[in-house]
Amino acid sequence: MVDHEPVTKAVVPAAGLGTRFLPATKATPKEMLPIVDKPAIQYVVEEAVGAGLNDVLLVTGRGKRPMEDHFDRAYELEEALRAKDDPERLAAVRESSELANVHYVRQGEPKGLGHAVHCARQHVGDEPFAVLLGDDLIDARDPLLKRMLEVRAEFGGSVVALMEVEPEQVSLYGCAAIEPTAEDDVVKVTNLVEKPVPGEAPSRWIIIGRYVCDPAVFDVLEKTPPGRGGEIQLTDALMTLAQRDRSQGGPVHGVLFRGRRYDTGNKLDYLRTVVQFAADRPDLAAEFLPWLREFVARQDAS
Ligand code: UTP
Repeated sequence: MVDHEPVTKAVVPAAGLGTRFLPATKATPKEMLPIVDKPAIQYVVEEAVGAGLNDVLLVTGRGKRPMEDHFDRAYELEEALRAKDDPERLAAVRESSELANVHYVRQGEPKGLGHAVHCARQHVGDEPFAVLLGDDLIDARDPLLKRMLEVRAEFGGSVVALMEVEPEQVSLYGCAAIEPTAEDDVVKVTNLVEKPVPGEAPSRWIIIGRYVCDPAVFDVLEKTPPGRGGEIQLTDALMTLAQRDRSQGGPVHGVLFRGRRYDTGNKLDYLRTVVQFAADRPDLAAEFLPWLREFVARQDAS
């Protein structure tokens, strides 16, 4: 079946407290931390635009100003760069303000990812929409979101992105019980378990920070009680939708993602992400990589 209702809007929750990254995140949202020379959130907005979604709603909380300023014009800075005749930096400054139609809604209290998504209801209305977590990066060479939009068009309902992890890692994430479909990289999700007790996980496939949601998720979120950690979990609402048929906002399918994903929400993964992005940058790699090799060799020797 083909779903003719196109997805045009992306919602990017970026209102979490970022406690794993304190004190850096005391006054700066973690989504604004730089990955080389761009804040993480800019890569996420670029990904949405790359998948054809240029209406982007950022769900913000504390420290909203730096994000608004980043996606807005910066006239004084532009003027200074023009006066210095520095067109390259001028283009870099303007790029983020011309990227997308960026809108903002404030999540008054960080009551969980599900609550953050519910804050998007008025902006999104009765249309399917994408959700991209602001601290989770997908390599631009592995176009996951585009594939998820195709799956939504084919199967309707909602779509989650799944990645396979080692068994001992599963209990750190939301995990999916899955059944195969006729397509190699697509599964039907029959159940979702947030941070399963070790040994009780239904599979090794965990949910990563990309979703395409049917608008039925809003009504479900409204009735979803706080789950783990007193937060309203998006996973719990999707679990409800996974039990439903298409006439009631279900089902939920999963795209099995085998590409490159970078977490920027905790210190260790953030460091890995920065090093990998720097190694891929033609303007930096030639100097950075030999230094890195030498540094590691020196560390090993000492
Ligand atoms: P996380 O659980 O990774 O973010 O949420 P956090 O709560 O900021 O992290 P720690 O554990 O305190 O370090 C995933 C995404 O959902 C957003 C976050 O900003 C992040 O991008 N989020 C989370 C919200 O927008 N609102 C919330 O209430 C919770």
